[in-house]
Amino acid sequence: MKRIDVSNLSKHFTLHLQGGMQLPILDNVNLQVDAGECVVLHAPSGAGKSTLLRCLYANYRASSGSVRIRHEDDWVDIASAPARQIHAVRQSTLGFVTQFLRVIPRISTLDLVTQPLLARAVPGAEARERAARMLSRLGIAPRLWNVPPATFSGGEQQRVNLARTLICDYPILLLDEPTASLDEANRDTVIRMIDERRASGVAIVGIFHDKTLRDALATRLFPIPPLQPVTLVG
Ligand SMILES: Nc1ncnc2c1ncn2[C@@H]1O[C@H](COP(=O)(O)OP(=O)(O)O)[C@@H](O)[C@H]1O
Ligand SMILES: [Mg+2]
Repeated sequence: MKRIDVSNLSKHFTLHLQGGMQLPILDNVNLQVDAGECVVLHAPSGAGKSTLLRCLYANYRASSGSVRIRHEDDWVDIASAPARQIHAVRQSTLGFVTQFLRVIPRISTLDLVTQPLLARAVPGAEARERAARMLSRLGIAPRLWNVPPATFSGGEQQRVNLARTLICDYPILLLDEPTASLDEANRDTVIRMIDERRASGVAIVGIFHDKTLRDALATRLFPIPPLQPVTLVG
């Protein structure tokens, strides 16, 4: 079952401080992703991998083309959908993890991971128990659960970030180097958790620098199509 259908996607940035100069990044990208696939964006640094992922989440608006996301029983073109609909798609369909944890300060780690379940009407006690299980599985020691993650190490913050997203059953996961600073044991746990999701039918688009991760997770590599060469005139 198809879950993502990107058609003729182009993205350029307009640099207002450079007199409105246009900086093309993506040109005519076509990408379909089925349930149970893990497509890894594979291109050199600066090629536009994160930009493509952000277009899939509507963090960046596509300049042209469509980005259709299977949402419940419908297709939503997130490149042209109104904000209210984008919010609904993010709420229940699209999970997005980057390598940086961005959360409200002063909220404890356990509460941060419990929150998404409470928002989905899971009863408090069950939500906390599931959050605790998720944190244990990701190797966050119980002594840290009542502490806000602001002072955590980079690897710990990444695992809290993953926990917050993996606690929800999103049918689509977008992962932008979510494991960049993990040690080997935790990396193996994360590989297993992501691959379990994929095997259960989640559609995944990811960026993984590490070849071990790519080899373990990718069912397919997707190269970012090169930009058409620019002809300089005059
Ligand atoms: N908001 C932005 N404004 C201007 N340029 C941007 C913006 N975001 C990304 N870029 C540029 O787009 C190009 C691709 O960036 P990115 O998608 O992060 O590459 P990758 O993830 O493949 O390393 C880079 O040259 C980057 O500077
Ligand atoms: Mg990137």
